[in-house]
Amino acid sequence: SRVAVIVVAAGSGTRLGRDLPKALVPVAGEPMLVRAVRGVRRALPGAEIVAVLPAESEDLWRIGRELGGRPVATEPDADDGGSAAAVRDTAGHEAAGTGGVVLVAGGATRTASVRAGLDAIGPAADLVLVHDAARCLAPAAVFDAVVGALESGATAVIPALPVVDTVKTAVPAEDPRIAPEQVYDTPARSTLRAVQTPQGFVRSALAAAHRQAETWAGHRAEAVTDDAMLMELAGIPVHLVPGSLESLKITTEQDLRIAEAAVASAGE
Ligand code: C5P
Repeated sequence: SRVAVIVVAAGSGTRLGRDLPKALVPVAGEPMLVRAVRGVRRALPGAEIVAVLPAESEDLWRIGRELGGRPVATEPDADDGGSAAAVRDTAGHEAAGTGGVVLVAGGATRTASVRAGLDAIGPAADLVLVHDAARCLAPAAVFDAVVGALESGATAVIPALPVVDTVKTAVPAEDPRIAPEQVYDTPARSTLRAVQTPQGFVRSALAAAHRQAETWAGHRAEAVTDDAMLMELAGIPVHLVPGSLESLKITTEQDLRIAEAAVASAGE
């Protein structure tokens, strides 16, 4: 298939206040990983799917295998002392091309998890979508819009919604016991967008941006919160397409209740 989708599901989920990896948390009875992979299959039948899982969660790897997933062998990556680089596995990719899933272990940060996913994609794909498992209810229309814009020639495409709140940047208090943090400034609301996933890219451009970011450390690495940001830093235009309220990132208990209400009203 031309399109590969990396579903990043290697986060810890501490903000949901559960002792579970987030992708294992059920939404109306089904783990987020299951809903996310099903959503990708519905939207893009035949796309290669790479699910990036926490190395230590036996439950998620079992669920991944139940989804038809094939683990890709990993080997220590000589360049960065210990992280695992996927070894391309022909059998796994044949399975992935027919709606199967390749399973790969994630890293300590979202960026590292995306990189592990990139290393596991088969040779055929020239477009890559990166999707958060936590946005497991993202509708097919958004996947279609992202792929459509890539097929029309964009190098990077992200779904986004206008922001309804006025947003301010803050100067954190040096000592919150003495003084509260203060407002630094107010970006014009009409220019702000809340961005979601799936984010879509020409594979070669995303891979190059990730190779560059691999050399970063500390604050600079921590500041990378999505893939589009790497393209912006590389000077590549990032196109916006309409996102969806259904693509909310399930982060808190409140989000979980909103997601479950959405599933119920969709009549599932
Ligand atoms: O932490 P955050 O909410 O930004 O995570 C967004 C997505 O990235 C989630 O689907 C999560 O599972 C994934 N992630 C990952 N590996 C990490 C951290 C987050 O795959 N180390």
